Amino acid sequence: MNNPFRGLLVALLFPVLALAAEPPAASSTSEAKRPPGYAVASAHPLATDAGLEILAQGGNAFDAAVAVSAALAVVEPTGSGLGGGGFWMIHREFDDLDLVVDGREVAPISATGDMYLDRDGEPVAELSRNGPLASGIPGEPAALVHIARVFGELPLAQLLAPAIRLAQDGFPVDEKLAGAIIDHVDRFSPAALAVFAPNGTPLKAGDRLVQPDLAQTLRRFAQGGRDAFYGGETGARMLAGVRRDGGIWQQKDLEAYRIVERKPIVFLAGPYRVTVPPLPSAGGIAFQQVFQILGRKHWPPNDPVLARHEMIEAMRRVYRDRAAWLGDPAFVEVPVEKLLSRDYTDALADGIELARATPSIELEPPNETLREGDTTSHLSIIDAEGNRVSATLSINLGFGSGYMAPGTGYFLNNEMDDFSAKPLAPNAYGLIGTKANVIAPHKRMLSSMTPLMIEGPGGVAVLGTPGGSRIISMSLLASLAYIYGYSPQDIVKLGRYHHQFLPDTVVYEPGAFSQAEIDGLRKLGHQLSESARYYGNMQIVVWDRKARTLSAVSDPRGIGAGRVVMQAPPNTQAGGQGRAIAADR
Ligand code: DON
Repeated sequence: MNNPFRGLLVALLFPVLALAAEPPAASSTSEAKRPPGYAVASAHPLATDAGLEILAQGGNAFDAAVAVSAALAVVEPTGSGLGGGGFWMIHREFDDLDLVVDGREVAPISATGDMYLDRDGEPVAELSRNGPLASGIPGEPAALVHIARVFGELPLAQLLAPAIRLAQDGFPVDEKLAGAIIDHVDRFSPAALAVFAPNGTPLKAGDRLVQPDLAQTLRRFAQGGRDAFYGGETGARMLAGVRRDGGIWQQKDLEAYRIVERKPIVFLAGPYRVTVPPLPSAGGIAFQQVFQILGRKHWPPNDPVLARHEMIEAMRRVYRDRAAWLGDPAFVEVPVEKLLSRDYTDALADGIELARATPSIELEPPNETLREGDTTSHLSIIDAEGNRVSATLSINLGFGSGYMAPGTGYFLNNEMDDFSAKPLAPNAYGLIGTKANVIAPHKRMLSSMTPLMIEGPGGVAVLGTPGGSRIISMSLLASLAYIYGYSPQDIVKLGRYHHQFLPDTVVYEPGAFSQAEIDGLRKLGHQLSESARYYGNMQIVVWDRKARTLSAVSDPRGIGAGRVVMQAPPNTQAGGQGRAIAADR
């Protein structure tokens, strides 16, 4: 089989993680202080182009991030949109500011802990996944306005212009979108059917997708900002639709929505500085824990089976902690300091046995008495000043809840399924949780989205991916590969594997493990399950300070594009390396 995705060549890796943590060395004189141009990678070529258009007009990375997010909402409606949310990780170069704009959805004020349970107290997946009862209050519009106002340089209307144009004039449906429409059309509400299956026939690849209602919504948003989405005509239509069709939102939910600016988690791995999102994303805590566990183990060992075994065991343990402890910090006290302490992660590392897989059931299970790729999207941007944005955006499952309020043009999310409908009941990704992540009014549901940045001696990487619960494991493997010197083109090609505590199974992409590794891992007691599909859709931008180059690479599993524009001398270098390898799904 001609498999494009290969395993990590662990034997060649230098154990950087075992080095004492020390800050990145100050850049030497031979290193560039500024990138030689700008670069954008996103899940859709038209969205990448929207970002380049804004950068060419003099916008900065933050302006471009708004434009790309809005364009993704139009051209990749299965993954993200105005009816959803996300995390925008921002680095501002002039004052070295790192922060996360948390535009995560919140539960409506009338939400209750048992709202998705039947009379016997069992979760009903249908309720938390389909229709407007499944929708949290959207955060993306508030986040875009905030980013444009506080960090951008151009007016919101200018940033939204490419998205409005794409919605108004339309664009050709790609194969991936056409396939997703077929998969989800049965869940669509009438307003969504009118757009995606006009006269009852689902749009096919090559058909033009025109979204006049969405264009109007975006126009009102461009003129009126936040109030023109959470109020005005759009707000009124959204609320009327949701309430008529089974949702529980109230006017005050829309008025009350606020983004939160959060301090990222920053930690050192040898000379690398890793910047990852804090709660309510679970990614940052899991990342730091895995790095510390692997550091304690002097990972990787020379034996590739053992290297994978240790990585899987580390994943198992941090996903257990995710299930047991993590939730919205405004609602639950999460022992973050303890979870990230060396004593704690050393104990986790020391509990990993070299000779066998630890059955998840043998680890202290999370329980109530414990303290109390085709969906979602990503963009990575670096501008010529060195500003950067890594953002993961979502409406959760494909096309979110499948619900579009009449006259609005965008899908509402089904992010409420990221809560634990009931402690220890698995959600759509098989993730379990405890009281820390049960539903409460205005609470943010725990997320796996992990937009991140890594700064090392040689440069900077900005990356992230969709993929539900697997986001964290994919991003980890990619980050380690970057640290170990892999090129962005090779990073996106690496085969992926994942363990999330429960189910007690290692899921791996075809080709991620050699036969010897499969045999070796089985012998250690791991349950292995080859994934039926390649998963994830990683977008990476890398600035190599020494070589003075920029690369922008989009995952070959998707249809996205990475593009670089060199500024001196003026010269456009079509990146798009991510498209050089045929996606095999
Ligand atoms: O926030 C989360 O963790 C999920 N709603 C992300 C969903 C996702 O990545 C779907 N992708 N395939």
